[in-house]
Amino acid sequence: MAEYVGAIDQGTTSTRFMVFDHAGAEVVRHQLEHEQVLPRAGWVEHNPVEIWERTSAVVQTALGKARLGADDLAAVGITNQRETTFVWDRRTGRPLHNAIVWQDTRTDGIAAALDRDGRGDVIRHRAGLPPATYFAGGKLQWILENVDGVREAAERGDALFGTADTWLLWHLTGGPDGGVHVTDVTNASRTMLMDLETLDWDDELLGFFGVPRAMLPVIRESSAAASGGPFGVTRRTGPFGGEVPLTGILGDQQAATVGQVCFAPGEAKNTYGTGNFMLLNTGTEIVRSKAGLLTTPAYRLGDEPCVYALEGSIAVTGSAVQWLRDQLGIISGAAESEALARQVEDNGGVYFVPAFSGLFAPYWRSDARGAIVGLSRFNTNAHLARATLEAICYQSRDVVEAMCQDSGVELEVLKVDGGVTANQLCMQIQADVLGVPVSRPVVPETTALGAAYAAGLSVGFWSSTDELRQNWREDTRWEPQWDEDRRADGYARWQKAVQRTLDWVEV
Ligand code: G3P
Repeated sequence: MAEYVGAIDQGTTSTRFMVFDHAGAEVVRHQLEHEQVLPRAGWVEHNPVEIWERTSAVVQTALGKARLGADDLAAVGITNQRETTFVWDRRTGRPLHNAIVWQDTRTDGIAAALDRDGRGDVIRHRAGLPPATYFAGGKLQWILENVDGVREAAERGDALFGTADTWLLWHLTGGPDGGVHVTDVTNASRTMLMDLETLDWDDELLGFFGVPRAMLPVIRESSAAASGGPFGVTRRTGPFGGEVPLTGILGDQQAATVGQVCFAPGEAKNTYGTGNFMLLNTGTEIVRSKAGLLTTPAYRLGDEPCVYALEGSIAVTGSAVQWLRDQLGIISGAAESEALARQVEDNGGVYFVPAFSGLFAPYWRSDARGAIVGLSRFNTNAHLARATLEAICYQSRDVVEAMCQDSGVELEVLKVDGGVTANQLCMQIQADVLGVPVSRPVVPETTALGAAYAAGLSVGFWSSTDELRQNWREDTRWEPQWDEDRRADGYARWQKAVQRTLDWVEV
């Protein structure tokens, strides 16, 4: 059998392809960024053609670097930024609009209307999501209503919808020439169109958004069941240059949950990327949140029942550090945020709530806007850098509080991954703010690893989730250092600062 498994990770800012061996160790990777198209305040788009081209390029370059070919790969998995909405023409493969990104808030009118006439509560119960601009259903409605000809094409079955996984899988399996149109339960669940219990599109929910069923992909499991066969096989003419079974699909946060081997109820991980996403495995039980979390499938492996999670999604964490770099120019790279923040002992009274896309969990207020509070003449760039790192950690504390409320489970240790975990100071602050240890694994690329695991389990490359557990090892642990008073005082001030971002709009 081939010695490796590949994973495409199509994220918000970049796309990477990675190859893993049987021990879950990285063999090779290549990564390319793509453009963030920002046509107006609050709008964020990606060019689907660029995303497909970058995906092809990273696959070819990584395989070339390691002198690997299609025959060396037992299977390939795809993981992706979730919710970002792609619509394209089945006959030509051309996009009918730029992809509308999960951070985009143009659909705030559509989202607000859902709560005025009772549809919101149906969505909460059936899809497990609070109506918000974040999810794909409103974005798809916007495209159907605002782009000429799309509705007619959708009704004829000529316009297809998908998240990034579906867009890429369709191209890898032939595009207009027989491309396979599927997604998995984790991605489908982020649309407000899927019933959490049946794991299928729901006609009443489709009606809420005016979405024709003919444009939707088939929803499959996350790790292809032997009974149904692979999701598809790569074409010889594509970037793999040969036929490899595509057998894993997971939204990126669910993939990280698998990569962190959170297979038992009560196990949780927090991923620090553009935003932060904490998922708590709740087993096969659907736990409906009362505290502002999402209920979402964590994964479905083969024919086994779906495993669910509670999720706390935070829109702006790593991207707040990028804002310091790109908009304020006070640092030249993400790594410098740590050096700058280390120049001061504490935040000097400054709290920064980066509510740039409104506030997600647990507040779900699309109308909130960012605030920096507590400023005095004494404060410097260093305090702002420190307040930015603290904001990442305090937002995660808000989510942990909600998880404890919903599940009754007290967190004992927080498993972390993602780019920001390279920031030692930020991880120390996270342990201080939570009062529990923070633990990072040896392989920090848990998202790609999770997609590889889903793909490899399907073809018997790995035999079971127990075998995957053996691959997880701790690399670094941060222990809390603050005393209780400092922790309580800091959190109380943070909560007051959050309140300001909500008050601000209530003029
Ligand atoms: O829900 C959005 C999330 O999937 C995006 O993750 O890592 O691409 O920012 P990331």
